[in-house]
Amino acid sequence: MEKMPFQPNTLERATTMIRTANLDMRNTETVVTTSDWKAGLPVMAASTFTLRDLRLDDAPSLLAMLTTEEVARFISPPPTSVEGFEAFIMWAQNERQAGNYACFAVVPKGMTTAVGIFQVRSLEKGFTTAEWGFAIGSQFWGTGMFAEGARMVVDFAIDVIGVNRLEARAAVANGRGNGALRKIGAVQEGVLRRSFIRNGVHHDQVLWGIVADDWRLQRLSQEPKAVSIN
Ligand SMILES: CC(C)(COP(=O)(O)OP(=O)(O)OC[C@H]1O[C@@H](n2cnc3c(N)ncnc32)[C@H](O)[C@@H]1OP(=O)(O)O)[C@@H](O)C(=O)NCCC(=O)NCCS
Repeated sequence: MEKMPFQPNTLERATTMIRTANLDMRNTETVVTTSDWKAGLPVMAASTFTLRDLRLDDAPSLLAMLTTEEVARFISPPPTSVEGFEAFIMWAQNERQAGNYACFAVVPKGMTTAVGIFQVRSLEKGFTTAEWGFAIGSQFWGTGMFAEGARMVVDFAIDVIGVNRLEARAAVANGRGNGALRKIGAVQEGVLRRSFIRNGVHHDQVLWGIVADDWRLQRLSQEPKAVSIN
């Protein structure tokens, strides 16, 4: 999502909440086995990484990974400090509890903190239509982490949250972001003219859509076929 719903002006309020928050949050990794995602996101293991809820101790690694020029060029300005990322993480937890938003941290095997995020936010009451976005530290680009994580997050949005239509917006000039969406099966639906401003420049954005029925069919066709032995 080019426009991250978190706005830095929520920093002050969230900082107060961080001070009063239960510090257990820093190191707990709760495996949620129910579909009550508002109470906590599940830990989803992939071949080379894990997706899990954000934790406050992800703030320094997210600052390092998501504020480089190549990552931040086509997304809304990320926070510029550890405190700013902590405020974002607190905001994300609150929005999840309110049922408006889910943000997964991407944690490579052998590491304990996040190198990227996948976020999904409701665009209307009830989460039927949602928008998603993602950003991963550039040293992990081209590793397959995006595609595998994206499929898990779309499955989660559709199967667990109940999203029927998932939109993404990517600046036309963001070749990699558009290539990433195309390759996982999102459909290019149109161009939103001058819909995104970054560093004083107005960008056109490609609108990408995934609808639940198409996604289920695509998933079915990719599942290994049962082999019958006579
Ligand atoms: C978007 C992002 C998460 C994708 O992860 P990634 O690891 O780079 O993605 P992948 O390498 O798996 O896929 C990108 C695809 O785009 C293709 N691509 C790269 N540059 C391209 C370009 N200029 N034009 C078209 N396609 C391009 C790649 O070849 C690749 O396809 P392939 O695997 O079939 O060869 C990552 O690039 C990122 O964090 N970017 C910065 C944040 C951002 O722009 N987020 C998107 C907002 S919608």
